[in-house]
This record gives sequence, C-alpha cells and structure tokens, in this order.
Amino acid sequence: MLDKIFNFKNKIVLITGCNGQIGKKVSELFLNLGAKVYGLDLYNNKIQDKNFFYIKIDITKNKILKKKIDEIFKKEKKIDILINNAATSIFSGIEKRKDDELSKVYDLNVKSVINIIKYFYINYKKYNMKKASIINFASIYGFLSPDFRIYKNGNRFSAEIYGASKASIIQITKYFAVLFAKKNIRVNSISPGGILNKKLQSKQFIKNYSARVPMNRMANVEDLFTAILYLASDFSRYGTGQNIIIDGGLSVK
Ligand SMILES: NC(=O)c1ccc[n+]([C@@H]2O[C@H](COP(=O)([O-])OP(=O)(O)OC[C@H]3O[C@@H](n4cnc5c(N)ncnc54)[C@H](O)[C@@H]3O)[C@@H](O)[C@H]2O)c1
Repeated sequence: MLDKIFNFKNKIVLITGCNGQIGKKVSELFLNLGAKVYGLDLYNNKIQDKNFFYIKIDITKNKILKKKIDEIFKKEKKIDILINNAATSIFSGIEKRKDDELSKVYDLNVKSVINIIKYFYINYKKYNMKKASIINFASIYGFLSPDFRIYKNGNRFSAEIYGASKASIIQITKYFAVLFAKKNIRVNSISPGGILNKKLQSKQFIKNYSARVPMNRMANVEDLFTAILYLASDFSRYGTGQNIIIDGGLSVK
C-alpha cells in the first residue's frame, strides 16, 4: 500500500523554478520516485537525469510559456502534477520602492501562476485528462507579517509586495480548487516558514529567526517533502483548496 501511495512512475511533473533552493530538491525527489519531470527556469540546467527535461524560459513571457506547455502536452498527452514554485522578491524598505519592482514581483509571483494554470487547463480539457494535482508555493508571509525586529542591516528585508503576492496565491488556490473541483483537478498550496540558507542569511539572522520558532530552527527543504508528496499523490484525492503550513510552529504562537 505504502509503495502505491508514493509511486510516481509514469507521472508527468511540471515544476517552475527548478534551479532554485526548493525547486531543485523537489525535482530530484520526484525523479527518485519514478516520475518524468519537466523543469522550467531562467538559467542553465542544474540536474542531469534521463527523466529530467529542462526548459530554459522566462515564465512571465506569455507567448513562449503557452508554446512550451502546449509542446509538453503534445508529447506526453498529460501533466499529472503542476508545481508553481518559481517566485521572486525585493529586499529593500518601502521608501525605496520602485514601480517596476512591484510589477516584476507581481508578474512572476501572481500573473505567471494564473497564466500557467490557464494554459494547463486548456490542454487538460483538450487531451481529455481525468485528474490532476496543482501545488502552489505560498509562504507564511502570505498571512503573517515578518517580524521586522530581526531584519538588521544587510539582511534580506522581506518586502510588502512579496507578502501581497503570496496572499494572492493562497486565494488563487481556493479559487481554482472550487472552479476545477468537478473536473477533478485538485489545487492546494504550501506555506513554508523561512528555509535555512547559509549563503544568503547572516548568522545573527538565523539565530534571531530560530529563536522565534517553537521548534527553534529554520526549515530545511526536506521538511516540506511529505506535504508535497501528500498533495501530489492520488491518495489525497478528497483534499482541495487547502494551504498546508510548515513552519515549525511559528504561526501558531
Ligand atoms: N526559501 C524560503 O525561505 C521560502 C519560504 C517560504 C516560501 N518560499 C517559496 O518557495 C518557492 C521557492 O523558493 P526558493 O527559496 O527555492 O527560491 P529561489 O530563489 O531559490 O528559486 C526560485 C527559482 O525561480 C527561478 N525564476 C525566477 N524568475 C523566473 C522567471 N521569470 N522564469 C522562470 N524561472 C524564474 C529562479 O531562477 C530560481 O531558480 C517560492 O515560491 C518562494 O516564495 C520560500
């Protein structure tokens, strides 16, 4: 039974932002479980695997995005699991905010997710698919404010537009879960707390952030794995529109 639940052989996964901290490990997770993975990202491919198909693309560019999704469907006749993972942010205070920065975050974090879902859905109907799972990456900052006391000089100050975009993801997830329920497409989101990244975070920041978490540490990408697999698995077939929070207890105290 267990090997059936986590068996992704013959499954087609599409993940955006496959070069990133989370995207790379999640791509490898599905490859290890037998899936064929299509990874979309801006820069050069980081994964070598016979079942990994890399597409170098800016997913905010609609025409090429549509073309690539159409091509995957033409080849595979389906995408079983769509993971909207790519996102960006700005790390400066509000006084410095520029209009084009707002657009950049909104275009990637919100508009590209809606557009991918649109092109996915058109093909889902065209190829007469019977079921699929969409997993959107939100964040605890989609429903919580950062605690600005821990963002000292040089740290990656989390901008208002990032939280706004992630709140949108939690809402879009509910919207499409209801819209697609009868079509048997489940749509859920994951809201991680801060992921440990020693290259980007100072020792002081990691210490201060961890002190605010009941489990006393930042997250590792692996901490998200079973939630992702749960949402991707056909065995979660009655679960849709949910936002799974994985934050070591940060948001409940
Ligand atoms: N890292 C965290 O602490 C954390 C916490 C909560 C939520 N999240 C969410 O998890 C997801 C992944 O985060 P991450 O930390 O791995 O981010 P990351 O910055 O490491 O990776 C994002 C990837 O998206 C790619 N990308 C950016 N713009 C693109 C574009 N226009 N077209 C195609 N690809 C593009 C980047 O090249 C990068 O490889 C995001 O949605 C993020 O908001 C992350």
